[in-house]
Amino acid sequence: MTDQATAAVGPESPESPEPPEIPGKPTSASRTTLSHIMTQADTNLLGTVHGGVIMKLVDDAAGAVAGRHSGGPAVTASMDEMAFLEPVRVGDLVHVKAQVNWTGRTSMEVGVRVLAERWNESTPATQVGSAYLVFAAVDADGRPRRVPPVLPETERDERRYQEAQIRRTHRLARRRAIKELREKRAAEGFDD
Ligand SMILES: CC(C)(COP(=O)(O)OP(=O)(O)OC[C@H]1O[C@@H](n2cnc3c(N)ncnc32)[C@H](O)[C@@H]1OP(=O)(O)O)[C@@H](O)C(=O)NCCC(=O)NCCS
Repeated sequence: MTDQATAAVGPESPESPEPPEIPGKPTSASRTTLSHIMTQADTNLLGTVHGGVIMKLVDDAAGAVAGRHSGGPAVTASMDEMAFLEPVRVGDLVHVKAQVNWTGRTSMEVGVRVLAERWNESTPATQVGSAYLVFAAVDADGRPRRVPPVLPETERDERRYQEAQIRRTHRLARRRAIKELREKRAAEGFDD
């Protein structure tokens, strides 16, 4: 993982001098947990907690991590593989744990685990969900800006980095394939 130790910043035209480098940041520098007790206001029509409530907490926690890691504003570019493993109930204390798994030039993948425990019982928390989100760091005009490379610290961080690279490859391939299909259909005269 030596290739992610620094990231070049600044202008990148061939005439530009050697760009300065952003020092890498360890995973632990931005890892965050957001906790929230679920109430009646969070339920769906079945009486369990609405998935959208959990997704907002996931986006909030991941956004905090992305902002901390990149040292400024970051916007959600995509959210994928949101898995709901168990229903969440009123009275559950939900913990949303997020960390940067991987960094690119201007984007970061944030991995999130959602745990729940009864708010008034000392039973162990169980995992109820997980998600992967991509955030783009942006400048004041909303344009993507460079992010510091994340520096995995543990074997688990390193595994997550490698898995995030696989997801990144698949995301890019999927986007490219869909774009090519749409262009082909447009060229064939389809207007859909
Ligand atoms: C995300 C956004 C900044 C990307 O802007 P863009 O002009 O497409 O810029 P780029 O193509 O250079 O993409 C920037 C980075 O984001 C990544 N990215 C962009 N769209 C992505 C997507 N759908 N999924 C995964 N990664 C994505 C790119 O791969 C690139 O990463 P890299 O520099 O590490 O290689 C822009 O689309 C945006 O502002 N979207 C709205 C975000 C927002 O408002 N979110 C809140 C929802 S309410």
